[in-house]
Amino acid sequence: MSCCGHCRDAEDFFNERTAKKELRRYLRRGPDKSTRLLLEAITRQSMHVHGASLLDIGGGIGAIQLELFKKGLDRSVNVDASTAYQHISKKEIIKRGLADKTEYHFGDFTELAPELPSAEIVTLDRVICCYPDLEKLLDRSLQKAKKMYALVFPRELFYIRIGIRLGNLWFRLRKSDFRTYIHPFQKVDSIIRSHGFTLNTHEKTLIWHVLIYEK
Ligand SMILES: C[S@@+](CC[C@H](N)C(=O)[O-])C[C@H]1O[C@@H](n2cnc3c(N)ncnc32)[C@H](O)[C@@H]1O
Repeated sequence: MSCCGHCRDAEDFFNERTAKKELRRYLRRGPDKSTRLLLEAITRQSMHVHGASLLDIGGGIGAIQLELFKKGLDRSVNVDASTAYQHISKKEIIKRGLADKTEYHFGDFTELAPELPSAEIVTLDRVICCYPDLEKLLDRSLQKAKKMYALVFPRELFYIRIGIRLGNLWFRLRKSDFRTYIHPFQKVDSIIRSHGFTLNTHEKTLIWHVLIYEK
């Protein structure tokens, strides 16, 4: 994989220990609140899920694909820049007999995009906040979405700004190139609309915007 220092150092952060912990939590309690809201909004449009394909960018341990398979999803393509997360996700998919319906691509999505298929549903759950080039990530992922574009990212609130600054200071002290970002809602929304999508659902938690767009 050819990847920037940011993605390379993301491997330290999204490591095996964190991936195992997240999988254990998911198996015990189900998806986190913001992911649950995203899934509920996606499955409300059930005609889009049954028999559909998913492209889950930065899919992590794979909670979205696991939940949507239960609702009749046909195929999933999972792209992630963390080997540990992909390894854990793959093991769970094999355990559930879904390996022939799931494809894994390791690396920076923006670089892999030309070789990846389009899908009816594209998801970026808590991913755009881990990537420095917002326009590139949005443009390339929007080009892959045939019907639905679903994403979760942090709100521009003072306590989140403080958390992100402290987190980035910690990364700097550890000499890591990995950083997290708050992207303005208006900017994200206008890029998505410029690709012909309209906003279908907008929910908020204390930390996250949860958004579903449709074509
Ligand atoms: C905060 S985690 C979120 C994981 C999962 N979507 C969730 O909500 O639980 C961000 C994930 O995005 C991945 N990621 C970040 N930038 C990426 C990129 N450009 N291409 C592929 N994966 C990326 C990271 O490796 C990590 O697994």
